Amino acid sequence: MIYFDNAATSWPKPARVVEALSHFITEVGANPGRSAHRLSIEAGRTIYETREALAQLFNVGDPLRILFGLNATEALNLALCGILRRGDHVITSSMEHNSVMRPLRALEAQGVIELDVVRCSSEGFLDPTDLEAAIGPHSRMIVLNHASNVVGSLLPVAEAGAIARKHDVLLLVDAAQTAGAYPLDMKAMQIDLLAFTGHKALFGPQGTGGLCLGERVVVDDLRPLKRGGTGSRSEQEEQPDFLPDKYESGTPNTVGLAGLRAGVEFLLEQGVEAIRAHEVELTGRLIAGLLDIPGVTLYGGHDAEMQVASVSFNVEGIAPSKVAALLDERYEIMSRVGLHCAPAAHRTIGTFPVGAVRFGLSYLNTVEEVEAASRAAREIARSES
Ligand SMILES: Cc1ncc(COP(=O)(O)O)c(C=O)c1O
Repeated sequence: MIYFDNAATSWPKPARVVEALSHFITEVGANPGRSAHRLSIEAGRTIYETREALAQLFNVGDPLRILFGLNATEALNLALCGILRRGDHVITSSMEHNSVMRPLRALEAQGVIELDVVRCSSEGFLDPTDLEAAIGPHSRMIVLNHASNVVGSLLPVAEAGAIARKHDVLLLVDAAQTAGAYPLDMKAMQIDLLAFTGHKALFGPQGTGGLCLGERVVVDDLRPLKRGGTGSRSEQEEQPDFLPDKYESGTPNTVGLAGLRAGVEFLLEQGVEAIRAHEVELTGRLIAGLLDIPGVTLYGGHDAEMQVASVSFNVEGIAPSKVAALLDERYEIMSRVGLHCAPAAHRTIGTFPVGAVRFGLSYLNTVEEVEAASRAAREIARSES
């Protein structure tokens, strides 16, 4: 079987991730920060070490400025609903996932914000000049995904960081598709808020993710999404106001974070540059293979250096859902079909409402798998023509 649905969630995970999950559930298991016994202390240490590993990966100065939650969606909602106030103007791109678009559209419908969606090219790229031109007197935040989950196109996040500083607005980056797969340095790229998910290229399990706060984010300006028990200041009925407890109420997914720590340690050992180089190699071969098939339309920029390892295509005369079903039934290739929770991105590339078939590769995929997938696409295109 060939698993090419890594842009949705990565699978398989490195063996050490599975071992870490098993170790935590069999040997530790306790609730972190809630008791003084050794197992609870060990659980707390597990979480802190996960924060430290991620702080190293993303260059976050203080590990306590990483706030854990369920996934990128929760982190994005925390950033958007926690910071934006009535009258704020927000700028985003037309390649965003619904985890950005839906909270923004809700805030717009409630009359809280004014929203500008800057149009990207039909290959999925954003011109930073268009971004800067959209800034106005009430602009408070730029929200961009680092790479599209539909065509993989990389957006100019570092340029957006410089623009954000120049105009004194915040930059929120949705790194769901790049965290672990592409070098990310919050300080060098001048990112103020970075939302990540643990279960894609970071190789953690589902139910892990978080928001990293840069130095320009004032904690008093960020309202929590939820309040409750933290194991700290239990004599108080008010939420603690220090990090990370202000935002991390309730029993966390400690077992998941133990797995995420192992995933991030795996990445740090391999080196994100090496991971990126392998993915560029695979993506380049896949692009070349698909471009060579009569009847296949490949979306995006057709340049592996300008994108992450997701490639979307359609086969002339066959519905994308049929192509995906044939890939699964005949060739045991797992792909993702449809609109990929990103209708705006599909409108931008011209595939709305039909959608496309997406191959999402990971560091653990091989050249042989890419070649097998290209052959399968060729046979499907030929057999149905
Ligand atoms: C670009 C992008 N943003 C956000 C998300 C949401 O991630 P999660 O489902 O882990 O919250 C995804 C997931 O596919 C994504 O691709």
